[in-house]
Amino acid sequence: MGVRFTGVGAATPTQTLTNAHLSALVETSDEWIRTRTGITQRLIAAPDQRLVDLAAEAAMSALAMANLDATAVDLVILATSTPDDLFGTACLVQTRIGATNAVAFDLTAACSGFIFGLVTAAQYLQTRTYRSAIVIGADILSRWVDWHDRRTCILFGDGAGAMVLQASDVDQLLSFELRSDGRLNEHLTLSFQGNTQPLCDAVAIAQGSFAPIAMNGREVYRFAVTQVPEVIEKALHRAHLSADDIDWLVLHQANQRILDAVADRLGVPAHKVISNVSQCGNTSAASIPIALTTPLQQRQIERGDLIATAGFGAGLTWGAALFRWG
Ligand code: ACO
Repeated sequence: MGVRFTGVGAATPTQTLTNAHLSALVETSDEWIRTRTGITQRLIAAPDQRLVDLAAEAAMSALAMANLDATAVDLVILATSTPDDLFGTACLVQTRIGATNAVAFDLTAACSGFIFGLVTAAQYLQTRTYRSAIVIGADILSRWVDWHDRRTCILFGDGAGAMVLQASDVDQLLSFELRSDGRLNEHLTLSFQGNTQPLCDAVAIAQGSFAPIAMNGREVYRFAVTQVPEVIEKALHRAHLSADDIDWLVLHQANQRILDAVADRLGVPAHKVISNVSQCGNTSAASIPIALTTPLQQRQIERGDLIATAGFGAGLTWGAALFRWG
């Protein structure tokens, strides 16, 4: 009993924020941003654009590629750190796409969310609990970036990507490896900050909002370039494969330097590394399915190709999944 990967789709906003725009907002330059990150622009959600809009568009596109009717979907997992509603946004997506028979829930694992969601959905399919699932990674981090902080505001963009998984006799998910380490949590946060308010004589509460993203870039960089190759190697070992067998390396699109360093450590040549970070920036949970969409739609990635993918980010969380397309 196994799982096949049958459709992908993406949705990105139309507002473009270039490095030149950012140079007018904070003390930075196109040259600094390009050489340190490889990013030249990011796409930013309009003020009235909701996460559900992007997530549903990506999901519909993935269902179209899979040639699957929304009513046949049993499970909708929305990986996001920026829901429209803290109680969850997956149910809104479920209704918007017409997946009337599906159970839907949000999953939060920051930039690893798509990989964690993919592996979670696969468990339901491999055990035949469900027959088809859609995993969506969607984030609008522009709403939580400190636009005065040049160390972080240059990195992030908005978007959504989705993938359809279907139960199959042949298992195309060859292996995975997921990790978390809360001891490193402080290096990347978007945390609640409350003000204490007395409610009555006996009870005080805290009310407030979420503070903008705070990041120790050097630590996150160091973490990514050491831990990501390790989980990919672990997943390869589990599947009795080596890095030479990888057809495509599709990492969380955080920074071109991280992509290059991980590929280098694994010995994967540059022509096998999928990257759109220059055009989209870091779209958090959305970045992997967005990066996969164009090469799959244009058949650059073909049926049967071995895709090594890995996410990493806040938590800290990180994980790799090895699968064959189609
Ligand atoms: N423009 C110009 N100068 C800058 C900028 C900027 N935008 N940002 C920082 N600098 C300066 C710093 O102030 C510092 O100056 P100083 O030496 O005088 O103090 C200098 O540049 C070097 O700063 P570093 O922070 O050491 O720069 P670094 O080379 O590490 O690059 C970067 C910073 C791009 C953020 C890098 O650390 C990185 O990519 N880290 C990984 C981040 C990441 O991927 N996060 C996403 C995880 S995803 C998630 O879960 C949300």
